[in-house]
Amino acid sequence: MTRATGGKPRLAVLASGRGSNLQAVLDAIAAGHLQAEVTGVFSDRPGAPALERVPPTLRWSARPRAYPDRAAFDAALAAAVEASRPDWVFCAGYMRILGDAFVRQFDGRLLNVHPSLLPRYKGLHTHARALEAGDAEHGASVHFVVPELDAGAVVSQVRIPVLPGDAPETLAARLLPREHALVVATLGLATAGRLAEQGGQVRLDGQTLFSPLALDSAGSLRPESRS
Ligand code: GRF
Repeated sequence: MTRATGGKPRLAVLASGRGSNLQAVLDAIAAGHLQAEVTGVFSDRPGAPALERVPPTLRWSARPRAYPDRAAFDAALAAAVEASRPDWVFCAGYMRILGDAFVRQFDGRLLNVHPSLLPRYKGLHTHARALEAGDAEHGASVHFVVPELDAGAVVSQVRIPVLPGDAPETLAARLLPREHALVVATLGLATAGRLAEQGGQVRLDGQTLFSPLALDSAGSLRPESRS
């Protein structure tokens, strides 16, 4: 997937909010832990703090309501993203559903991080829903994006225990640094050209992955061990 044009793999990031996942990516690049170049940060919220994390030349934002319809906004977003010539497009807290045309255009190189152990808790309020269900474990997933919300093939997951007395906020706060590590490790596989999607399945090093990779405590991704 990585282009053979020389230079570092190019990564476009879509974000709507504070951008802590984006910052984890930027920090990993700066530390030499991730061989990639962020080609732009793209937002549906011109006031998003995420945008401030990169120089102005790398920022693109627009208000969806300034466009006649969803397709028109998506087309403008897609054109801006494409113009940055990304090898991979990563949704890091991008809170707007991407239309079919956008997903098709970036098919196979479009990843999202979602704060639940997919397929559990697609959509919003994942931490509260995990607590309400009495789950012993919670986590985050990185998956390929398909038109259906949070439904694409899951590449990797990190699990944390739910502790007695957890509230959605404490659970979210404990998960966030692990989510960041998951994102960096997974993007590391993607930008190294080791990850692909084919027929709704994840392929790692050319082999089909039958269950998501699991992040270990050292921050490495390993095949899930089933006990
Ligand atoms: C993350 O928990 C992500 O999984 C979810 O929204 C949150 C975004 O956080 N989709 P940030 O903007 O990266 O700080």
